[in-house]
Amino acid sequence: MELFHGNIIYSKNREKLSEWKDSYLAVEGGVVEGIYPCLPEKYASLPVTDFGEDLIIPAFSDLHVHAPQYPQRGIEMDLLLHDWLHQYTFPLERRYEDPEFAHAAYDAFLDDMVEHGTMHAVIFGTIHREATGYLIERMERMGLHGLVGKVNMDMDSPDYLCETTEDSLRETELFLEQYQGNHTAKPILTPRFAPTCTWPLLKGLGELGRKYQVGVQTHLVESLWEAAQAKKLYPECGCDTGIYEQAGLLGNGPAVGAHYIFAEEEDTRIMKKYGVYAVQCPDSTNNILAGIMRTGALADEGVRLGLGSDIAGASNLGIYSQIARSVQLSKYKVFYEPEGNRIVSLAQAFYMGTKEGGALFGNVGSLEPGYSFDALVIGGIADHFHKLSPVQLLERFCYLGETKHIRARYLAGKKLGTG
Ligand code: GUN
Ligand code: FE
Repeated sequence: MELFHGNIIYSKNREKLSEWKDSYLAVEGGVVEGIYPCLPEKYASLPVTDFGEDLIIPAFSDLHVHAPQYPQRGIEMDLLLHDWLHQYTFPLERRYEDPEFAHAAYDAFLDDMVEHGTMHAVIFGTIHREATGYLIERMERMGLHGLVGKVNMDMDSPDYLCETTEDSLRETELFLEQYQGNHTAKPILTPRFAPTCTWPLLKGLGELGRKYQVGVQTHLVESLWEAAQAKKLYPECGCDTGIYEQAGLLGNGPAVGAHYIFAEEEDTRIMKKYGVYAVQCPDSTNNILAGIMRTGALADEGVRLGLGSDIAGASNLGIYSQIARSVQLSKYKVFYEPEGNRIVSLAQAFYMGTKEGGALFGNVGSLEPGYSFDALVIGGIADHFHKLSPVQLLERFCYLGETKHIRARYLAGKKLGTG
């Protein structure tokens, strides 16, 4: 049994944060045992790790991130999606055919992700099985929760990133076979998006999904160009999400659609039917997409939601920044399209980045009893002008936090690094 003291905050539900001021948290075998406003008699003789007035919060979940684009963060942002991909991103992804480059970049990516307090992530690799295998293996060794995909693309891509349908399916099946037994970092099917995937590929992936009972991640109605292209290529599927349903890719495991900006009613019907997560990537929306998810309305309609950095769409790995941006973007949405939209609260955005997103991986993303103690200690953001409540300190961390404010990190009850 290990005991911690501090100001403890986690999401009770979409509307409410639970705030435990000046309280004790007990961890047994890496799992939260309980939270106590006063130290119980039975634990009185045990040592307590005291974080004083610092916050103890759950570690974050990033539901959409491109690990290979890590070297591109913060540069080359002057184009919209299609041209951005072709001019900058695809040439970078090509470099992951070189294992040496890939290993170094993935090591740096994972270390920095943890540095930013993210311990659970749904990740795009590249088309390269070896490099993506390295990424998933390292995550598994680190004990990080992940859903990691070897990307599939067999049309309308540069020659150097365009697989044959047969190669794409064969390599994917090898990837699934090799990593299906993993404990924390598991494989997920990853057709890049409709514009780069043929029907035989999508159908073949659907069969693999059924055979291995594995889910899918992709980009869904992320730009007007992509949404129109999906309908032009696959008119009989009705909408972008319908493509994945009809290919048999939904209902086999966790399913995640990144961006989900230009959705129609039919998309949302399918999302709800299969419990597909819609992932808002606020900074990426600003940088390359020009559209805003109906986050408040989708939550009210019962769509599962999460937050993503979408590196290199965003420049910053911190999901805490995306929490603040999600609130900010909801105001633009309400301003430009008041009908049916509402402002997203800090509580809802934090829920998306912790408990709701974490549910994809199991009992992570909260500090309630039974959850893995994957947690962050946040401090150094108070000032002496006025006394802020723990929830206000959390809000400030989301708006101006930096990695230096994460004073300790715990994964399954174990303290990471020296910080
Ligand atoms: N759509 C297809 N590929 C990508 C990508 O790499 N990033 C983003 N943001 N959207 C995509
Ligand atoms: Fe993306």
